[in-house]
Amino acid sequence: MRLLRWAAYFGIAAIAIAWGVLWLAPSISEKTSAIGAVSVGGPFRLIDQTGQPVTEAAFRGRFMLIYFGYTFCPDVCPTELQTLATALDQLGPDASKIVPIFITVDPERDTVAIIKDYVPLFDKRLIGLTGTPADISAVTKAYRVYSAKSTPKDSTTYLMDHSSFLYLMGPDGTFRALFRQGMPPDELAKALRSRLAG
Ligand code: NI
Repeated sequence: MRLLRWAAYFGIAAIAIAWGVLWLAPSISEKTSAIGAVSVGGPFRLIDQTGQPVTEAAFRGRFMLIYFGYTFCPDVCPTELQTLATALDQLGPDASKIVPIFITVDPERDTVAIIKDYVPLFDKRLIGLTGTPADISAVTKAYRVYSAKSTPKDSTTYLMDHSSFLYLMGPDGTFRALFRQGMPPDELAKALRSRLAG
């Protein structure tokens, strides 16, 4: 029994440390998956801003740079999507190796029409994805995204609390790197360039 208890403590500690690393480090390389505690990504089935069904297989052969957020977000999401767009501009022609993707964590409000109006505000290349609540729930779970509704006092509308990272997935669909919120665009561009080369 004692051994089991220690094993459980160790397991919890390993997960906590892995998440601590994810939160604190500016970017996490594929080495993370060698730790074994965290697996990120996987298949998804969603709907793009033109109303077409799309799966992750559609993007094989190119890197995916994915951001999870919602269009009603007052501050963080627009800032991060702007950073993403600026970094892609700085990459020049190399940016064509990357598909930038925005996935909503708020499928109730983020309809195809709303996503269609939203993504071009940041970049023409940006693909916006929504889906059924079940499909969105599945993809956020696969990417270890935290999101939850929160209603401010005296407000009739809700916000979404959500984790804010950029996920870089390789041309084979596997997890390559995680970039934290608030990275300056030139730093992001530099980090992306080194991953594209590697
Ligand atoms: Ni946001």
